Amino acid sequence: MGDIKDKEDIVLLINAFYTKVRSDKVIGYFFNDVVNVNWEAHLPKMYEFWSKVLFSKGDYNGNPMAIHQGIHAQSAMTGDHFDHWVELFQQTVDVLFEGENAEIVKYRAATIASIMKVKVIH
Ligand code: HEM
Repeated sequence: MGDIKDKEDIVLLINAFYTKVRSDKVIGYFFNDVVNVNWEAHLPKMYEFWSKVLFSKGDYNGNPMAIHQGIHAQSAMTGDHFDHWVELFQQTVDVLFEGENAEIVKYRAATIASIMKVKVIH
């Protein structure tokens, strides 16, 4: 098992993560029912987002905090939802990768999620 080293690895990670998310009992309904996510548009956006987070090069210029505030307005998100999101993300990383970037991406996911939790729920 190797580390996350390039965009191709990010694609692998993100595809695996959202495959898990879509069938998840706790948070899947946000993606499937609350927002009927257009996966062909969402996944490439997420590859860019995580490339930017991890490698400082990625073509993402959105406003995730505002997007999640909008989702929360449609259907309440809780601290438990965010904690579960982080758990799924970290599990997915651990199944596929190990190394410095794997640790960094897990840490960054948890940090962004904790900021998002405060900004979205309160
Ligand atoms: C319970 C937790 C979460 C739920 C239910 C959730 C749900 C969603 C949904 C449904 C979308 C798609 C919106 C659309 O297609 O219009 C979305 C977009 C997105 N999510 Fe989350 N999310 C969660 C947590 C997170 C976290 C922790 C991060 C980052 C670490 C994140 C990053 C993003 C980004 C970057 C987008 C794209 C926003 C854009 O369109 O510019 N999400 N999320």
